[in-house]
Amino acid sequence: MIEFKNVTKAYKGGKNVLNGLNLTIEDGEFVFIVGDTGAGKTTMMKLLLCEEKVDSGSLKVAGFDLTRLPSFKLPKYRRKLGVVFQDFRLFPNMTVEQNVAFALRVVGTPKKYIANKVKYILKTVQLENKHKSYPYELSGGEQQRVALARALVNSPDIIIADEPTGNIDPDMSRNIMDLLVMVSNLNKTVIVVTHERELVSHYGKRTVILENGKARELYPEVKK
Ligand SMILES: Nc1ncnc2c1ncn2[C@@H]1O[C@H](COP(=O)(O)OP(=O)(O)O)[C@@H](O)[C@H]1O
Ligand SMILES: [Mg+2]
Repeated sequence: MIEFKNVTKAYKGGKNVLNGLNLTIEDGEFVFIVGDTGAGKTTMMKLLLCEEKVDSGSLKVAGFDLTRLPSFKLPKYRRKLGVVFQDFRLFPNMTVEQNVAFALRVVGTPKKYIANKVKYILKTVQLENKHKSYPYELSGGEQQRVALARALVNSPDIIIADEPTGNIDPDMSRNIMDLLVMVSNLNKTVIVVTHERELVSHYGKRTVILENGKARELYPEVKK
């Protein structure tokens, strides 16, 4: 479970970006987060990733209290999360399979498991025939699927995608979103930040709008 309670957050010298934010997300839920540019969506994701701390209020994720998480516990916590960044952050000098394998190596996965895990996840995102390609040889949609593969390969409980459909065509947006919905059906929590209203209405999933530093439900989740 993810629980924001009365969260406030400001950056140095600025006014509160988040201002009494309350939001609860259950395990296995799929949630869209929408809101204008500057509304604080990325800030929310940074709090979840523990890249930023709340100023007041509380934030609990998967049993971890992020307001008082000692730094030695951070790696253990981060392993619960898979992240897809807007700009993908692929390593340009590594092939597709090396990019994905890297995510396994950094968390100390034994070498003997790496090749199989990489193969399996590349199949899931339909990139098995591109495993030797470099990012510059891929389309935007393919690069995005590499980023998704990398986020998924460690079997995280929570997947966070901050504007994952930026700069790719609408068909590809659907494609990646279908994959994320599939992932949430495996009982993983999926949070997708987007400004694409059409995408949101197409999927009919729970949607939370961030405005004036608070969260408001836009569409309720269609219960399965
Ligand atoms: N590191 C930072 N330092 C100062 N201000 C920031 C920083 N990051 C974001 N902001 C400000 O916080 C507000 C919310 O930003 P952000 O969370 O990125 O919004 P969104 O992702 O919804 O577009 C914006 O006004 C932005 O300029
Ligand atoms: Mg943002």
